Amino acid sequence: MAQTIQEKLAELRRRNQAAEAGGGAKRTERQHQEGKLSARERVELFLDEGTFEEFDKLVTHRCTDFDMASQQVPGDGVVSGYGRVEGRTVFVFAQDFTVFGGSLAESNAAKICKVMDRAMQVGAPVIGMNDSGGARIQEGVVSLAGYADIFLRNTLASGVIPQISAIMGPCAGGAVYSPAITDFIVMVQDTSYMFVTGPDVLRTVTHEEVTMQELGGAVTHNTTSGVAHFIARDDPDCLSLIREMLSFLPSNCMEDPPVKASADPIDREEEKLDTIVPAEPDLPYEMRDLIHCVVDDGYFFEVQEHFAQNLVVGFARLGGQPVGIVANQPAVLAGTLDINASLKGARFVRFCDCFNLPLITFEDVPGFLPGTQQEYGGIIKHGAKLLYAFAEATVPKLTVITRKAYGGAYCVMSSKHIRTDVNYAFPTAEIAVMGPEGAVNIIYRRELADAKNGEKVRAAKVEEFKRLFANPYIAAEKGYIDEVIQPRQTRRKLIQALRMLENKRDTMPPKKHGNIPL
Ligand code: HXC
Repeated sequence: MAQTIQEKLAELRRRNQAAEAGGGAKRTERQHQEGKLSARERVELFLDEGTFEEFDKLVTHRCTDFDMASQQVPGDGVVSGYGRVEGRTVFVFAQDFTVFGGSLAESNAAKICKVMDRAMQVGAPVIGMNDSGGARIQEGVVSLAGYADIFLRNTLASGVIPQISAIMGPCAGGAVYSPAITDFIVMVQDTSYMFVTGPDVLRTVTHEEVTMQELGGAVTHNTTSGVAHFIARDDPDCLSLIREMLSFLPSNCMEDPPVKASADPIDREEEKLDTIVPAEPDLPYEMRDLIHCVVDDGYFFEVQEHFAQNLVVGFARLGGQPVGIVANQPAVLAGTLDINASLKGARFVRFCDCFNLPLITFEDVPGFLPGTQQEYGGIIKHGAKLLYAFAEATVPKLTVITRKAYGGAYCVMSSKHIRTDVNYAFPTAEIAVMGPEGAVNIIYRRELADAKNGEKVRAAKVEEFKRLFANPYIAAEKGYIDEVIQPRQTRRKLIQALRMLENKRDTMPPKKHGNIPL
């Protein structure tokens, strides 16, 4: 019979107590009292049972200053090695807060680098479990060098193997930049925090009073800064979330994502889809309802659920094939694209392109969000990131326009013109330079000002504009839309297109690398 997580944890604790692991029973007890697992428990709970192979268990630090020579702990504050998740090899390291506060130093940085180098060599993901007081103060610049060694490897591994960071305790100062370079950050609620400078420094320098959680807790980074991608209730939740995420990802950029058989028929037609998009163009609706109706078993693994909610991104499967979904959300800010949504979308699109995940775009976008805040904040360069990301992506790309596709946002959201493979539109789609009201106000400005019955003329012109432009047929006549489909057919159409594109190969012109507007 399968063990529950609680039973599994109790067993791990019995075993680790016997081994007197890490910084000793007292510090481990404190870790537990704070609601955190120990480094070893985390690793063993994360991996398939009994698959953990540890590296460098006996490595110790070489520091002789500050009475350090007398404080040698085998493993030196990081548990590292490899194991399996759903049978596939992954590399792990877990900082052990019970040993010098999990601080990073020469020897344990070298352990982390060893794991990263091996992962790159064999093409397997690296999962880092962060719980550390930062650079080990006693080792000075050697600790800083250790961080830089890791940052370099994070950068070189980016786009080659998936790198996922779990933040399960402190992660402060320059140490935050390793997780920041990795692909996804999962933070545990209440017990983790990330910041460059902490509340004490802020109090002195800027006279701000802020708690650690307010400044850099899981909620802050999932809702306000967008630094993190997921929030987990506790350590076991965090680890199972990462296991789940890995099920959508290939082990490296040379592999295809793992296909998972589904009993959901590929030709399933969902009547509900015909009524999700309201007939009234300005009424909001929940884009996730549409996504759930289309994907295998209605299962959508959302990424950055709490940040820039006007754009929905995440993983799902279509006919067993993992895909990345990018969708405007008409229920938030009318689905407009703003700075945060552009950043969120661009990073997700680039991740999918790195790791061979086809991109499915559901589009209902009235344009970019207007306002001084957006313009001063640089919506021009940030919006350009999303455009650039979609345009450079060479994975299979499919778009479904459900309703609005206006202006520059039409071009950006995986339009035909930026080499999207198959573009569908619902009959409710409106593809135009702008909405009917705005368009009429501009092109008939003089007539409307001169007319005695201005409002009546305006209404008539709006109706005329809608009839002429607010539909998908002009774009379809030009081949910009491959087919106007009934909403209920969406699943079948997307799966057919994905199968047609199975062997798609597209390239970028030879170059060192592009210059995405950062
Ligand atoms: C050495 C450290 C340490 C560190 C903690 N410890 N941080 N030892 N180097 N950086 C040790 C403590 O001495 C203590 O040892 C044990 O870890 C647990 O620490 P506590 O303070 O008791 O824990 P807690 O109250 O939970 O507070 C955790 C903490 C605090 C908030 C992280 O320890 C702290 O502020 N640490 C210093 C953080 C810091 O300034 N780091 C440098 C940041 S700069 P005992 O023996 O009592 O168990 C940085 C630069 C990176 O990291 C640069 C990259 C480019």
